[in-house]
Amino acid sequence: MRIILVGYGVVGKGVTTILARKDAEKVKEYGFNPKIVAIADIDGAVIDPRGLSPEKLEAIKQKGFPISKDPDFGRPGMPALDVIESVEAEVVVEVTPVNIKNGEPALSHIIKAFKTGKHVVTTNKGPLALAMPALTELAEYNNVYLRFSGTVGGGTPMLEFAKKCLAGDKILAIQGILNGTTNYILTEMSQNRVTFQEALTNAQKLGYAEREPSMDIDGFDTACKVVILANWIMNKKITLKDVDIKGIRDVSLEALDEAAKRGNTIKLIGSIDGDRPTVKPTEIPKNNPLCVSGVLNAVTFSTEFAGEQTLVGRGAGGMETASAVLRDLLDIRHKLATKLLT
Ligand code: HSE
Repeated sequence: MRIILVGYGVVGKGVTTILARKDAEKVKEYGFNPKIVAIADIDGAVIDPRGLSPEKLEAIKQKGFPISKDPDFGRPGMPALDVIESVEAEVVVEVTPVNIKNGEPALSHIIKAFKTGKHVVTTNKGPLALAMPALTELAEYNNVYLRFSGTVGGGTPMLEFAKKCLAGDKILAIQGILNGTTNYILTEMSQNRVTFQEALTNAQKLGYAEREPSMDIDGFDTACKVVILANWIMNKKITLKDVDIKGIRDVSLEALDEAAKRGNTIKLIGSIDGDRPTVKPTEIPKNNPLCVSGVLNAVTFSTEFAGEQTLVGRGAGGMETASAVLRDLLDIRHKLATKLLT
């Protein structure tokens, strides 16, 4: 499987590392032989149809140069759209930074990939939050797959759990802590009496927060994930504008203390329960399975027959999210192999 990687930040590097590290195992266990034939970054690209060496690229980056400076295969200034159009590959892995204003540049990358017959794996919530119904239709129209497990829950397979493990049951409602940064902040405030600002600064230092922290604390990141869950799991054709969103800026230490007296705490909860999807700080009992601490994420699926199922795990991080990309690549490979057989 030939792959074009678009974006070479924390997740992009995680993807090259994970694909290189597990090479032999993957071929043996899954008959899956991935090869990154191009990487497009902000200032150019690097292309080698025989497959790029992650170690060499990392060494260039460590010296402070962009990867497009690779003396053998570098293409300084080559735009990602040209790479997607001109390089032969089966899959585009899109891991550029999130933009919820217009979804760019990821939205154009994804559309270009579809139009040139390439499957897409993305960890980018922006295009999905703004245009998921249209993008899934466009993928179908072009007869390609769109996969995005890393957009919700990082490495924790929340989308697959609901879609595959709960197949046949009806999911009636979803409630979740879907943002690690806000969970970390609220946990630090309630357990260690740290102020909101101090906790946010720590979350940024630890690398959990988005580049624009308003994405986390004002609830937009959670809302993007709610949109993706609603479309993929509950077949609701909604976008970000359909979600009522309130972040955690107004949650005070006093409010957390009051909740604690009642055996509860306050969490930023995204929920879809039949009415309008919402994101808002919500008081929940400390013994609710959703009530996880620190940067953990948790989601509860309420189902018609199997009752409530809660999944807990790490919702962010380069390697965690890259593991979701690998899952998606294997899923596409499996789908293509089955197609050949039928
Ligand atoms: N900023 C996000 C979080 C990253 O804190 O959960 C993962 O989407």
